Amino acid sequence: MQTLPGFRDFLPEDCATRNYIFARWREISRRYGFVEWDGPVLEPTELYKKKSGSEIVDQLFNFIDKGDREVSMRPELTPTLARVVAAHERAFKKPLKWFSIGQFFRYEKQQRGRLREHYQLNCDVIGETDFAADIELIALCIDILRSFGLTEQDFVVRISDREFWTDFLQQQELPAERWEEVLQIIDKSGREPREKTEEKLGNLAGPVFSIFDKGGRSGKLDRLVDGLGARGLAGFVDIDVKIVRGLAYYTGTVFEVFDRAGKLRAIAGGGRYDKLIGQLSDGAVSMPALGFAMGDVVLGELLGERAASREKLETAIRNQNRIDIYVVIAKEQRRADALEQIQELRDRGYRVDYPLTAEKVGKQFQNAENAGARIALLYGDEWPQVKIKNLDAREESLIPNDALLDSVAKFFTVSGSV
Ligand code: HAM
Repeated sequence: MQTLPGFRDFLPEDCATRNYIFARWREISRRYGFVEWDGPVLEPTELYKKKSGSEIVDQLFNFIDKGDREVSMRPELTPTLARVVAAHERAFKKPLKWFSIGQFFRYEKQQRGRLREHYQLNCDVIGETDFAADIELIALCIDILRSFGLTEQDFVVRISDREFWTDFLQQQELPAERWEEVLQIIDKSGREPREKTEEKLGNLAGPVFSIFDKGGRSGKLDRLVDGLGARGLAGFVDIDVKIVRGLAYYTGTVFEVFDRAGKLRAIAGGGRYDKLIGQLSDGAVSMPALGFAMGDVVLGELLGERAASREKLETAIRNQNRIDIYVVIAKEQRRADALEQIQELRDRGYRVDYPLTAEKVGKQFQNAENAGARIALLYGDEWPQVKIKNLDAREESLIPNDALLDSVAKFFTVSGSV
């Protein structure tokens, strides 16, 4: 029996990678004053049909539940957030700065960087129209990636503005009902042959490609770059009007993050969706909003590719699963004494392991090495003394068992971290 296509098993090393990614996501989001929240993984299908756009609706993992409800595994968080904010709007001071880490499901064709489940960090700011929020959010996205050891040589944030395109479509006198369709064609243009995009665009192909070739600009985007420049982050961003985003609800600034080499799918994406909360609450609550989501799949690929980030990742994996102390039971008569002290050591927060059944001493030291233990404690003929062995420095000494906890504490204080 294998996993379903696009689903993953997480073996210990994969879990350690995931934990590392989540820890960085949480840490940096909190540095920016964001607070954590979450929503349900199953939602009424209607929630996505209303405003996410046809692409994501085609990818829904949906079914009828036993109560005859049409339900979907969540493909993204933004509609849930809009619903929650509209419902609890009065309970919180604006602007809200919320983040969330969770698993999402999209019935996509499995390919490099795209699976049928993935984890996302979502960071959103609700209730702020000022441009300062757009700058802050993009800075957060950049700082999260920097915290993994990635630099401006490794990734780029491509920023754009949907208003640039809606203004253009208005000038072209295209009826507003067709805007979304054209925006989707522009969104896909980077992943399709030029002729195909030209054919789909029809009369608009000439003017659209002329903008692509010249690289469109707007004062707003320049101000965004300046704002990031003031924080020393301008090197991480490029203006790229080809970015419009595949989701239908965006209204203003939009951005996507890619690896500089351009080999991978998008690492993150987001933008302003000033109308979504109003639309989902049928006008009851209207609030500007913006946010982004970063996925774990492409990020994981990129971290493994770059030397600096790979080193950080490998250290994190090693440290996560390593123990502090391995207890070697050299004489089975000492097992009960050893267990009593193991309990005390664990109560103090040390990570302690020992053999569950009798094993040769050499094998036990091998276990200690394999588990990355810093010290080994040997319970044998020396009792009531315990032999303490520093496994890095290969030094050993004998200590009375009633002084053991103090000696261990001293070791870890002097040699750093537990
Ligand atoms: P999205 O661009 O659809 O945006 O997804 C964000 C990120 O999730 C992508 O850049 C990618 O890294 C990851 N991702 C998406 N689909 C998959 C997949 N099938 N396999 C692996 N990774 C994937 C949104 O979801 C918006 N709701 C983001 C947002 C938040 N906008 C405002 N607030």
